[in-house]
Amino acid sequence: MSYHVPIMASEVITALAIKKDGLYLDATLGGGGHTRAILEAGGKVVGIDRDDDALEHCKATLNGGVTYIKGQYEDAAKLLRAAEIFSVSGAVMDLGVSSHQLDDGARGFSYMRDGALDMRMDRTQKLSAYDVVNGYSEEELVRILWEYGEERFSRRIASSIVRARAKEDINSTVELAEIIAASVPHRVGGHPAKKSFQAIRIEVNGELSGLRAALDGIFGMIERGGRLAVITFHSLEDRIVKTAFADYATDCICPKSLPVCVCDHRATGRIIGRYKPSQDELNANPRAKSSTLRVIEKL
Ligand SMILES: C[S@@+](CC[C@H](N)C(=O)[O-])C[C@H]1O[C@@H](n2cnc3c(N)ncnc32)[C@H](O)[C@@H]1O
Repeated sequence: MSYHVPIMASEVITALAIKKDGLYLDATLGGGGHTRAILEAGGKVVGIDRDDDALEHCKATLNGGVTYIKGQYEDAAKLLRAAEIFSVSGAVMDLGVSSHQLDDGARGFSYMRDGALDMRMDRTQKLSAYDVVNGYSEEELVRILWEYGEERFSRRIASSIVRARAKEDINSTVELAEIIAASVPHRVGGHPAKKSFQAIRIEVNGELSGLRAALDGIFGMIERGGRLAVITFHSLEDRIVKTAFADYATDCICPKSLPVCVCDHRATGRIIGRYKPSQDELNANPRAKSSTLRVIEKL
C-alpha cells in the first residue's frame, strides 16, 4: 500500500514555479510526494516532519537532494537557521495527517481500525488521545468537539464519554467510536465518529493553535518572488490560511473602527490564487475531496 498519494502535486509544482537548484521547504514531508515532485522539477528540498515514520520512509525512498529535519513546522525558521539555511526559494505545507498515519490502526487515528487511543504524530510527545478522552473535563470535551470538530452533538457525545469512562477507562479507537455512534442519531453520509476523531486529533497535535505562527515564520523565510503553497482539508484550517494570506497582502491591517492607520503594516505578499482538485484527481483519490490549495507570492 502506498504511504500517501500527494494532493494536487502538479498544481503545487506549477504554483511554486520551481527554479533549477532552488532550495524549497517541504514543511510536511509525509510520504515525500511533494518533495519528489520538486526534485523531479529540478529543485532541492529541506524537509520537515514531526513523525519519525515519515522521515525514515523518505530517507529510504528518495535519492539525494533532500536535507531532513525532525521537528515542528511552527519552529521552521529556528530549525532552518540551525541547519544554516537562512532563506528558501519557496515552500509547501500539506496540512493534517498522512494516509499512512490514518491507515495504520496502531497509530490510533482511525475510527475504522482498532488500536490504542494514541493519535500523536510525534510519538515522543506526552499528550495522547487517551489523556484527552480519559482526562479532560466534560466542559473541555464539549469545547473541543464543538470548536475543532464542528460537531453539533458535542454535548451528548461528551456526556456519553464521561459516563462510559466512569465505569472503566476508554482504551481503544473502536471502543470510543462505538460510544460516540451510540450517542448520536443515525446520520446519512459520514461515520458518526468522524468529526469527534478530527477534533481529538487536532487537540492532541495542537494543529490549529500554532498554524498562524507557522505560516508567519515560513513566509518570512521565502525570498522575493518565491511562493508559499498551502493545502488545507477543513474550513477551520483554511480560514487561518486565508486570513494570514489576506494580512500579508494588505497594507493597513488596523481595525476598521480606527479613523487613521496606526499599524504601519505594509503588504509583503501578493495572492496568486485558490485551487481545488480536478475531477480526475477526485476520481483517482477520494481523500483529495475536501482539499483547498492557496498560493501567495513574496513581494
Ligand atoms: C498530509 S501529510 C503530508 C503528505 C506529503 N505532502 C506527501 O505528499 O506525501 C502531513 C504530514 O505533516 C506532518 N505534520 C503535521 N503537523 C506537523 C507539524 N506541526 N510539524 C511538522 N510536521 C507536521 C505529519 O506528521 C504528516 O506526515
